[in-house]
Amino acid sequence: MSVSDLQAIILAAGKGTRMYSTLPKVLHTICGRSLLWKALATVAHYKPRKIVVVVGYGEELVRAEVERFAKSLTEPIKIECVTQSEQRGTGHAVQTALSALAPSPGNILILPGDLPLLTGGTLLPLFSAETPPANLHILSCDVPDPTGFGRIVREEDGTVLAIVEEKDCSEEERDISEINSGIYLLERELLNESIQSLQPNNAQKELYLTDIVEFSVDAEQPVEAVIAPDCYPLLGANTRLELASLERMRRDEMVSEYMLAGVSFEDPSAVYIDEGILIGRDCFIGAGTRLLGATTIGSGVIIDGQSRILNSTIGASCYIKLNCVITSSSLGEDCSVGPFAHLRPGSRLERRVHIGNFVETKKTELGEGAKANHLTYLGDSVIGANANVGAGTITCNYDGFNKHLTEIGEGAFIGSNSSLVAPVKIGARAIVGAGSVITKDVAEDALAVERSEVRTLPEWAKNFRARHKKSVS
Ligand code: UD1
Ligand code: MG
Repeated sequence: MSVSDLQAIILAAGKGTRMYSTLPKVLHTICGRSLLWKALATVAHYKPRKIVVVVGYGEELVRAEVERFAKSLTEPIKIECVTQSEQRGTGHAVQTALSALAPSPGNILILPGDLPLLTGGTLLPLFSAETPPANLHILSCDVPDPTGFGRIVREEDGTVLAIVEEKDCSEEERDISEINSGIYLLERELLNESIQSLQPNNAQKELYLTDIVEFSVDAEQPVEAVIAPDCYPLLGANTRLELASLERMRRDEMVSEYMLAGVSFEDPSAVYIDEGILIGRDCFIGAGTRLLGATTIGSGVIIDGQSRILNSTIGASCYIKLNCVITSSSLGEDCSVGPFAHLRPGSRLERRVHIGNFVETKKTELGEGAKANHLTYLGDSVIGANANVGAGTITCNYDGFNKHLTEIGEGAFIGSNSSLVAPVKIGARAIVGAGSVITKDVAEDALAVERSEVRTLPEWAKNFRARHKKSVS
């Protein structure tokens, strides 16, 4: 079939009963991407004129995901959702979609929205199938265990006769190992005619899309089932157990690709990485690392492990020590973070910044070479290059109603256990004495100390102990 003027229908109205979830099945995820996203991306690969998504169960959530996908496209594609209020089978779902297709002849690609390992490449055999020329192409697959799938029934000479659902199979048909993937490519006209012919004469009393095959055969329209060389991308998940096992397979595949491209893993089976994350060469990724969302890791980065990094950019040669949580933040080159650091959204670290253990930052910029090495909270602050923030320093950014800014100038030194009550500005190169509560701006190069005089009472401790001893005996 020469493919021209392509449109696509994605079936995504089902609930996915065996997931036991309020979330529609197509919104469950594998490596950070929903099953529906995978289907949409697979179809978008072929740049169709229009995509129609059939929604039903949890339709608001499904429509929102479709919208997110549409927004992510650099070259826009027309995508429309249609509601199938009652799920009366895959054939009924396609009937619902028909009126939303653009009014042109050409070819229609139909696929289920619940195949988690689908990629653009999976469909290639369908598009490149040439012989014999057919008006309906089905992507099929030979599997060791066909349980649960529709079987492709062929004549002795190989001609396709029908697809029979498992529940409607005879003993003999049940033994057929060639299964229907649920993905079809067919001519618009044939679809229009065949889809109107469906009857619920089957075990499930549904309108089966698969019955378009028998219609086409009866109408003497050529039908071909193209056997996919690899079944793996056509595997579906009906339960969370199956979903987890498919995710493990996909993750293994991704980790292998990273390793072959120059990334080392402490334990390749103990990392969790979302689709589409870039990791530079010569990185070391420790066990228990989670790299999620739109994250980018520069080259030569060491991540000791047990860290969760979401929607963040980590510059080249950074060192992320054990147990850090980094969210919507960016790190320049050569930074060192952790162990046990929490970089919350809006943390921006320039080059060579040091963030040590039990330090939390939020909406805070740290200039080149700035350090906050121990037990510190920096929120809504701007910290100049080479400033040193001592252990236990807190920016008091919140007065119970509003958040306020703390500014610390270049090269300033904040003594340990200081509280900086925002809004407040510490000038460049100024020093704040340890234990101070700073409520007013401090000028450049000044010293600010806020604490009471030290009183020393000679021999007081010795006498105290002596008194204490007597009373005990
Ligand atoms: C279908 C095929 C089967 C094939 C299998 C491959 C039919 C009758 N059977 O069976 O031959 O081997 O896929 O995975 O087509 N959906 C709707 N509306 C409905 C019913 C389903 O939108 O009324 C959607 C579902 O959300 C799902 C897709 O269609 O994304 C497939 O439906 P499902 O119930 O999973 O069909 P299977 O029983 O797997
Ligand atoms: Mg299914």
